[in-house]
Formats: sequence, structure tokens, C-alpha cells
Amino acid sequence: MVLPTTAVTINKRRLLRDLNAVSRIGIGDHGSVTRLVFSIKELRSRQFLIHLIRQAGLQIHIDRIGNIFGRLNGVHAKAPAVLAGSHLDTVLHGGKFDGTMGVIGALEAVRTLKEQKVALRSPVEVVCFVGEESSRFGYSTLGSSLVAGEVHGADLSNAADAQGTKLEDILSSLGIYRSNLRSMRRDPTSIKAYLELHIEQGPILEAKKKPIGVVTSIAAPTRFRVIFTGQADHSGTTPMEMRKDALVAASELIVAVEKICRRYSRMEKGRVVGTVGAMKIEPGVINAIPGKAELSVDIRSITSPAKNRVVRLVQAKLREIARRRRVGMEILPIREENPVPLDKRLVHLLKECCEVKGIAYEVMPSGAGHDAMQMAKITPSGMLFIPSRRGISHSPLEWSDPEDICLGTQLLLDAIVRVANEKI
Ligand code: GLV
Ligand code: MN
Ligand code: MN
Repeated sequence: MVLPTTAVTINKRRLLRDLNAVSRIGIGDHGSVTRLVFSIKELRSRQFLIHLIRQAGLQIHIDRIGNIFGRLNGVHAKAPAVLAGSHLDTVLHGGKFDGTMGVIGALEAVRTLKEQKVALRSPVEVVCFVGEESSRFGYSTLGSSLVAGEVHGADLSNAADAQGTKLEDILSSLGIYRSNLRSMRRDPTSIKAYLELHIEQGPILEAKKKPIGVVTSIAAPTRFRVIFTGQADHSGTTPMEMRKDALVAASELIVAVEKICRRYSRMEKGRVVGTVGAMKIEPGVINAIPGKAELSVDIRSITSPAKNRVVRLVQAKLREIARRRRVGMEILPIREENPVPLDKRLVHLLKECCEVKGIAYEVMPSGAGHDAMQMAKITPSGMLFIPSRRGISHSPLEWSDPEDICLGTQLLLDAIVRVANEKI
């Protein structure tokens, strides 16, 4: 066995080749990628990863939801493992890198460690979590939440896709019921730490001309659906003052979400952001007053008090709009989470990994959600970012420089070796 050393280098060509190969699964117009959770394309991407893990000669384990773990044993086979990974599912018409880079980067790191026979005290595992994105069901970080024991039956009630398929029905088809949710939890004593490499999905690193971000905390969302119920009626015969238009009520809410969040958007006010990203109107035709409007609200912040204050203000405004417009209103909670601090020792270690190689880095919070926010609840967790061109993600325009991808993956490998071999 060779000694562990930061001179162990990844195979850049293989990394970029496999990243490209995954990106072609679900490719669409303008280079967009769509792999919604539990779609054929998403399943195919997981199948491909299984093939790559087998090819690398790692031990494979797939849990009931479909989370994939590829393991390389260390000197102490029973010691807690260092996990590294992310997700392969994407948003609708998303990009090539969100999640995928973290999975393929972790795979590249682990297979390099195996190939080069690097001595590791702890086992290491590349992991692909199912369903990190909330685009299909409104429910995010599904696979990692199950692993962390953080899925609660009541949260699932309102999780359904645009066609009305309930997440709970899919889960039960996989043998996961409210009664056995907890059995999906992985024993925290079997994990030493979790590391995730990801694109920044924001403009900071590019603006500061730094190739690496070391993440300190992850903003968390409160999400709910709102249903306004008015009266569908003839658009030609119903006088303006007699209408109960659900869509006009919804429009007022959309503007209110923006207005309220803007008041709390500065860093010192809690960096709150709020989005209405989806809406369904009924009957949705040109000659009828909308009788029903259903919309999604996603409010996020890096501090709980600021987020909770904004949620209260938005919901109060919601009630006021419904009263004044004499329309029915229902709030269907989806999920409420607290911002998550990442492990301070890992922040320090990741900074050191950059410093050893003379790499400039930025210490920063994450505005986007990640599997690390669930894993942090059961094990010390750390994250590395690489720059996103023009800060764009969840879009076909998402792009990260191959050089940054290789650098981030190399630093991930360096960090895995240190975490596996050192006391943290
Ligand atoms: C995940 O990409 C999120 O919605 O934050
Ligand atoms: Mn995403
Ligand atoms: Mn992601």
C-alpha cells in the first residue's frame, strides 16, 4: 500500500467523460437536462451510476428508496465510513452540473483512491441520493431525509406532482410506509462524516474570482401550497363587481410575496428570498373567470427568525386578500425546515486543503438547499462549491468550467483522505 498523500491525483479525462455521459441522459432543447425524480430518465441515470460503481470494483448497496452507496473498505472495515456525494435528479429543463458533478466527482475521488491503493483508516463511500430536487413533488432532499430519519408522515400528505400522483403512493410501491419511515434511517454510528461537492448556483465566486467556496451553513425553506377558490363564471356576462376571480387573488399574493421578501432580503435582515414558482388555474380557458388557483410558495433564509417573520407576514396578507376579495383560501403545508450550520471542524479542514495547495477560497453560506442539510443532522458535514458562470443554475445556461470541476474534485479527494485518516 502506498502512503496517503495529497499527491494522489484524479483522472481528469475520466471525470469529464463520465460527467458528460450522465448529462446526455435526459438532454433536451438548448442543452437542457430533465431528470425528474422517479422518471425513466432519472432511473436510467441511476442505472448508469450503478454500472460505473461496479466497473470501479466498489461494493454496492442500494436502499429501498434507491439511494446508491459504492463502498471502498479501509484498514478498519467496521469503522464508520466517510460518505461523499450528491444527487442525479434535476429540475425541469435544468443544467448538467447541479448534483451530478457532486456524485461523479465523489465517484472519481473514490475510484482514484482504490486504483492508487491509498491507505485509508476508514471506509469511504460514494453516495447518490434520490430526489434532492423539489421540482416534481414540492418535496426536497427525499433520499437524504430518509437516511437522516427526517421524513415525517404528516409532511407527505400534500406532496403530489402536477398530474396528481402522490409521493406517498410511490413510496408505498417501494415498500416505504408511514409506519416504517424510521427504518430507512442509517445508523449514524456507521458514518464518520459527509462531504458534498456542488456548483455554487450563485454569483459570488465568479465576482470574487475565487475557484472554491467553503460552505458554512445552508439556508432552509418553508414551503406551502395555497388554494384560492372563487367562482368560475362566464367572462362575457359577469359584471366586474360581481366576480370572485381566484386568479386575481393569487396575483395579489404573488406581488405580496415579492414585496415582503424584499424588505428582508439584505444580509443583515436575514437574506430572505421568496418565490411563487408554480401555479395551476381552473378552468384555465380564455372565456371563463378562473374559479380556482393553486400556487406554491417557497420562502428561504439563512436565519430561522427572519424566515418565520416573513412566513407570518405572507400568511396574514393571504388571509386579508381572501377576506377582501370574498374568495375561499386554504394553506397546505409542505415542509418547514431550519437553516443548518455545517461542521466547524470540517470548514477548517476544507480551508486547510485549499491552503496547502495555494488555492484561493471564499467562506460562504449556501442559498440553495442540498443533501448536506439533512446529513448534517446525523453526522459532521461539509461542502465545497465551485463557481457557476454568471451565477446561473436550474437552467440550461448552467455552466461550470472544466478546470474548476477538476480542481473541486481533487480537493474533495484530498479532504476525503484527511477525514478518513484523521480524528475529527
Ligand atoms: C435545490 O436545488 C434547491 O431548490 O435549493
Ligand atoms: Mn438544484
Ligand atoms: Mn443540487
